[in-house]
Amino acid sequence: MTKKEKKMSINVIIGAQWGDEGKGKHGDIISEKADYMVRFQGGANAGHTLVIDGEKIIMHLLPVGIMRPSVVNLVGPYVLMDLEVLEEELAIAKKCGAKIILDSSAPVVLPIHKQIDRGREKLAGKSAIGTTQRGIGPTYEDFWSRRFVKLGDLVSKERFSKALLQSGYLQEKTAQVKFLRENPWSHKKLLEWGDKFYDLIKPFLGDTRAIVAKAIAEKKNILFEGAQGVMLDALHGAHPYCTSSFCTLAAVNASFGVYNFDRVIGIAKAYVTRVGAGPFPTKLDNSIGENIRTVGAEFGATTGRPRDCGWLDLVALKYACRMGGVTELQITKLDVMTGLKEIKVCVGYEDVDEYASLTLDVLENAKPVYNVFPVWEDDISKVSEYDKLPPEAKEYLAFLENFLGVRISAVGVGPDRKQILYC
Ligand code: GDP
Ligand code: IMO
Ligand code: MG
Repeated sequence: MTKKEKKMSINVIIGAQWGDEGKGKHGDIISEKADYMVRFQGGANAGHTLVIDGEKIIMHLLPVGIMRPSVVNLVGPYVLMDLEVLEEELAIAKKCGAKIILDSSAPVVLPIHKQIDRGREKLAGKSAIGTTQRGIGPTYEDFWSRRFVKLGDLVSKERFSKALLQSGYLQEKTAQVKFLRENPWSHKKLLEWGDKFYDLIKPFLGDTRAIVAKAIAEKKNILFEGAQGVMLDALHGAHPYCTSSFCTLAAVNASFGVYNFDRVIGIAKAYVTRVGAGPFPTKLDNSIGENIRTVGAEFGATTGRPRDCGWLDLVALKYACRMGGVTELQITKLDVMTGLKEIKVCVGYEDVDEYASLTLDVLENAKPVYNVFPVWEDDISKVSEYDKLPPEAKEYLAFLENFLGVRISAVGVGPDRKQILYC
């Protein structure tokens, strides 16, 4: 390779647990070397936090790469476009001088979808999924049924109106909304809602698949940013307590036809959190769990809900690495483990084969088997080199790496961009 030839890299970040692993922070750091950053699934159910010089920013829809003017930010055709959130984030992006292209084919979340999401959760009562109520399930339903409003339809009243009226679409949705005891939005009211977005969206519309293909031909560095996590994946999560999209690199393959990656970086906390309903085998329903929630500030970045906390579950993490195609892990929030009176890690479920799929049935009945680890007291949030971590912390990480058979490439010791140690 001559000096002038740049080595390109195509990397993917995915959540390797139940979401909120720290994808935002690590995505921000890794995007330093990216020419393009691409959101590829989910919607505004995501909440990705980054902290730069003490300032906290939460992104729901646009890639966290908008913080770097050198990065071109794409939102792909499998991402659900929440227009109210988009409006807010485009304003942030403008201040940052960010470059943004939104795929014209991306499905639009209509107010009706949020009504259906909310109505269903209300009707389900105690068996509710605990969704973010951002209309995610109902919008993906329409996507798969092949009748949905595309972002590219939001360029004029005429085009939006036509999309709403396609083969009885709005009529059918209205019946659904009524069944769920919500007040349906009329055609006229929806058009008025759409009015404020046409001029906003038009300048950002594009063909992200073509842009990615061209970027690959030009040997650019591309970073794909996932949302949620493998344990919330529509296929691999414990249905129905999951989200409605594929959260693995399968969604990158499907969206962009990209099959070769340099790194598939799984992000995982040094413990586990979960927000919403559904089985959580290692959940700590006690003062240790509360302590982790307080120290780790474990409250939802999208809904503000308190997150349940529990010990690291290596059965789930190994499954997530396998299903997610993870080639390396970055472990976040190790600092939160400092000062705990005891540290446990789940290394198996009684009578469950190590290769078993973690279905609802398996997770609901799982009896975790734990290993106990030595604790450490010293504050590690200011440590700047991996080697300077307490020996107990290094032992913990070495055990994970060995158990999972996946390399750990970095460890987070605080929320700030700078609080990262490379291994
Ligand atoms: P995401 O959805 O995967 O991007 O994660 P969230 O932003 O929803 O939640 C992760 C939370 O942990 C955020 O508040 C981050 O600022 C914070 N965070 C990330 N990495 C670390 C870390 O290493 N230590 C600590 N203490 N906080 C972290
Ligand atoms: P990020 O990208 C954590 C959870 C919800 C609920 C289930 C279904 O920040 O990691 P949905 O609204 O998607 O239909 O809800 O999925 N959930 C998340 N949990 N982090 C997320 O995103 C999540 N996105 C959805 O709490 O249990
Ligand atoms: Mg989050």
